[in-house]
Amino acid sequence: MAPLETIGKFYKPGTLAHRLLVSHSEKVAEKALRTAAGAGAGVEEEFLYEAAMLHDIGMFLTDAPGLGCFGSQPYISHGFLGRQLLEKEGLPGHALVAERHVGVGLTVKDIKEQKLPLPERDMTPRSIAEIVICYADKFYSKGGDPLREKTAEEARRSIARYGREKLKIFDEWLLLFG
Ligand SMILES: [Fe+2]
Repeated sequence: MAPLETIGKFYKPGTLAHRLLVSHSEKVAEKALRTAAGAGAGVEEEFLYEAAMLHDIGMFLTDAPGLGCFGSQPYISHGFLGRQLLEKEGLPGHALVAERHVGVGLTVKDIKEQKLPLPERDMTPRSIAEIVICYADKFYSKGGDPLREKTAEEARRSIARYGREKLKIFDEWLLLFG
């Protein structure tokens, strides 16, 4: 499948949202491929590339004007919304990557305690591809310079805002992949 074609169904080339999504996703895809190769993780490269390119596709449905997105949903829902959209596109595996990439993954406890507008189900990454893409994503932000890779320390600082448990998960990934 051609991820840019799928993106093109929902994002108009030349818009801010299209530009940010594509440049961010390309960086995440490169990092995910490098990470998987470095870790000797036997992940199918084609799937890893496609899923990394599509992981944020739900963002246009959210209210994130800074990213050129003018939807009605809160930004935290972009992973779940991406899942729904990719399932409709007939891409259930890619859909799970999208749902499970937010932060270091959202647990049922996170969703309940923070009253997140999401179905109460486990949204943490499980497969190697899901984990590697979630990990790679933490090194790039769409605000600021989407092309600049954060240092591990900068990525850790962003995760630390969500609590010790989240940072612990990211630190385990750093040991595995860093
Ligand atoms: Fe992302």
